[in-house]
Amino acid sequence: MLQKLLQAIFMAALVPQVHAQTELKATYLRCEYKINPTTDVAHPRLSWELTSKINNQYQTGYQLLVASSPSLLQEGKADLWDSQKVTSSATSQIEYAGKPLESRQIYYWRVRSWDKNGQAGAWSNIAKWEMGFLQKTDWKARFIGLDLNHLGKGKDYHLPPAPFLRKEITLKAPIKKARLYVTALGLYEFQINGQKIGNDYFNPGWTDYDKRLYYQVYDVSKELKTGKNALGSILSYGWYAGYLGYALLVNNPVVKNFYGAVPALKAQLEIEYTNGQKETILTDDTWKANHGPIVESDILNGEVYDATKELTGWNKTGYNEAAWKNASLIADKSERLIQIHPGDPVREVAQLAPKSVKIVSQKKYLIDMGQNFAGIISIHLKANKGDSILFKFGEMLYPDGKIMTENLRKARGSDLYIAKGTPNGETYIPRFTYHGFQYVQIEGLGYTPKAQDIKGIVLSSATPQAGTFETDNAFVNQLYHNIIWTQQSNYFEIPTDCPQRDERMGWTGDAQAYVKSATFNNDIAAFATKWVVDLNDAQRADGTYPLYAPAPSLRATDTYSPGWMEAGIIYPYQIFRSYRDTRIIKAHWPEMQRFMLFLETKSKGEYVFKETAFAEVNPKGGFGDWLSVGKKTPPDMLATMYYAYSASLMQEMATAIGDQKEASRFKETFEKIKAAFLKHYTNAEGRFMCNAAAYGDGKGYVDGEKGFEGHTQTAYANAIFTNLLDSTHTVKAGKWLNELVVTNGNKLTTGFLGVRPMLLALSTTGNSATAYELLFQKEYPSWGFEIENGANTIWERWNSFTREGGFPEGMNSFNHYAFGSICEWMFENMAGIKETTPGFKNFLIQPEVATKNINYLKATHHTIHGDILSSWQKSNDTVTLTIEVPVNTTATVCLPSTKGITLNGKSLQATDLKEEWINNKKQPTFKVGSGKYIFGYSSKQ
Ligand code: BGC
Repeated sequence: MLQKLLQAIFMAALVPQVHAQTELKATYLRCEYKINPTTDVAHPRLSWELTSKINNQYQTGYQLLVASSPSLLQEGKADLWDSQKVTSSATSQIEYAGKPLESRQIYYWRVRSWDKNGQAGAWSNIAKWEMGFLQKTDWKARFIGLDLNHLGKGKDYHLPPAPFLRKEITLKAPIKKARLYVTALGLYEFQINGQKIGNDYFNPGWTDYDKRLYYQVYDVSKELKTGKNALGSILSYGWYAGYLGYALLVNNPVVKNFYGAVPALKAQLEIEYTNGQKETILTDDTWKANHGPIVESDILNGEVYDATKELTGWNKTGYNEAAWKNASLIADKSERLIQIHPGDPVREVAQLAPKSVKIVSQKKYLIDMGQNFAGIISIHLKANKGDSILFKFGEMLYPDGKIMTENLRKARGSDLYIAKGTPNGETYIPRFTYHGFQYVQIEGLGYTPKAQDIKGIVLSSATPQAGTFETDNAFVNQLYHNIIWTQQSNYFEIPTDCPQRDERMGWTGDAQAYVKSATFNNDIAAFATKWVVDLNDAQRADGTYPLYAPAPSLRATDTYSPGWMEAGIIYPYQIFRSYRDTRIIKAHWPEMQRFMLFLETKSKGEYVFKETAFAEVNPKGGFGDWLSVGKKTPPDMLATMYYAYSASLMQEMATAIGDQKEASRFKETFEKIKAAFLKHYTNAEGRFMCNAAAYGDGKGYVDGEKGFEGHTQTAYANAIFTNLLDSTHTVKAGKWLNELVVTNGNKLTTGFLGVRPMLLALSTTGNSATAYELLFQKEYPSWGFEIENGANTIWERWNSFTREGGFPEGMNSFNHYAFGSICEWMFENMAGIKETTPGFKNFLIQPEVATKNINYLKATHHTIHGDILSSWQKSNDTVTLTIEVPVNTTATVCLPSTKGITLNGKSLQATDLKEEWINNKKQPTFKVGSGKYIFGYSSKQ
């Protein structure tokens, strides 16, 4: 009785506490940027986002509980870690600091946050992460394969068949838990009882296989059953042993087998029975191997699939494997690391239905998928046994309607299917290859295929969507569409240049110019964590970062280039800025320092790269402002600006990791470069110039015959963007930049390196109207010109196609994101969403409202704190600006004037606003915490 009474008193005492609890709630719990992942990171980082119905809400503290089972967690028993209340506003990058991590263990966790009034919120839902193998010795499985190289018989391409591997196993009892740890040298598809495990493509991904190899972990508890099970795997050559890049085109002595010649599987199946017993099944030489219908298999060159050679039943139990050989054991490299893939797998991200099916000639059909993309097709067809059906892929059509495939260069880029003659038809979906295309030409089919029998399978690294952008202007929407599709096609395991021709490499220049744009559209944190490792694995002995990463030697003269090599600094910097990720800095700091040392040594203590400073590389000076129009900005001048930019990013990153000494050293370096640059490359007026004569006839330089000039759009845009000029000089440079555009008929002359900062620099110097003119330009060279000519992705060249000139010869792609770097300006300036501290903890809302062509714009960006929204609407003389600010962040809203301002319908006085220096100008601002706000102001100033 007394006990009951006490209990009642105790319960009553709890009531006010329940009332006092805030509605602040932690959601979207992630570990290492992923939802419930398996990881092998030594100190996994946790993050969450907060929701609240209250404005100006923020976190003042958090508590994390980690337990070995969800039920313990429910009871509040954190047997692995109780962080206790931590006074902090951080909701991301929190390192697990509990009991030592163990391989295979599952960690269940939840979090609660204290709000601005110090009230605790409810516990979040339970999330988990699982540890992979913490030691290489956890791996007991061996690499197994079958050398089929002698069977490659093509004339132009040596493409052996794909190995098939199998093993039947008997499981003794009901299964409680089963995990498949799997990887391959090459590419693998793993099957259990005929079912593909997971929905990833191109596993285990591309790395410098001599240094590291990634593996995947799958929960296969449901796929296995008591009794007999069949394990099977198909391997391919992939990036490990297949053709890569333009090696064939440039007559490189090595064109394939860059890392090895024989693909090999390594799989470890760990089973825990309900009776507590454990069993592990490994790849070893008891597995059987054969080859079958995949006669040729290559990423660049496509697949040949002979359905008459299918090994029916090979992946099921009870198969007669008498004709199969024993799999061979393949030696591992002892120094090779084996780790869990830290990025996002390539997955099917969308499906497309054909827009049209046309007859080209007898047995030849042209399918228009309606959109240029990276992926494959799936087709259901009827044919006679032995019929060959060829699939050719192209991005564009010639004016006469014929498919254009010349730009694939040496990539065969086609698939061939040999039918087995099933009366009801058969379905063909290639594996281990992909194409960049909008059009498919089908040859050899006896009837016009039906649209509903064909599907486009869109493949991309599955980076979560993080942005939306829409306006009431169809052209701008089309441009954004083109950017998104191009990013999707090229964020493909690594940031590639293009998805179609014999290239598809992680070109560093393209990657660094586009990375910030990429962050606005997708959450690329995990993807980038992976690629930055590739980048650092590929650092050259002299400290430079390569032209492309991973960096197999595709051509002896491929070394490094200013504007490309700085990706080693710029790309990780962007990840730090966007996701408040300091680990990426710390992880690669020594390599970045080495690179900076290279630059310092290379500048011979002068802190400027004078004309011809990079004459030793091929092409001379590097790629410079690649694919620019007109006279060239000297590559060495650009190299100096990139040096300065790198130094300033290093300074900021050093500060972020608490290394003040390095921060001041890099600040000094930046100042020295700035002074030396101005001295060498500007005249008394501050106008940019160069000693063009030093380049002679320009031979050996990219477009060297066009001549060199310092007074260019690219030069000013980069100088303004990299803060190389003091404020009065910036104003002058802005004027020159504006002038150069206007006198050129509002057209740009910029290439890869000039285009990124171009519109940003115009906007920061008060020339937003000119930036908008460039956006809306329809004549060559411009984005509008591409769209006028039918583009639905971003082209490599401003003139990749013209109605008059057709297609230029040689290098040409219709799916290249570099010129899509205007996306950064669209979010930062058109929508006005700009971070001011890492991870968008504080940000600016300062839209540049268009004076014509657009009346409405709405953009959202998903940050590590949640969604930011910025939307403007013009009507009559009023602009309405609607914004949403995530919990735990603040926005500084910068308004173009103090006149007629309203907030949520009530007028604001000039005294409510604070003047702040933004972009060299004092501007009226209003600071807000989280919540939704509607501002209004008069557009008549
Ligand atoms: C690639 C690029 C790359 C360039 C180097 C091209 O072949 O497609 O986008 O950056 O070479 O200049």
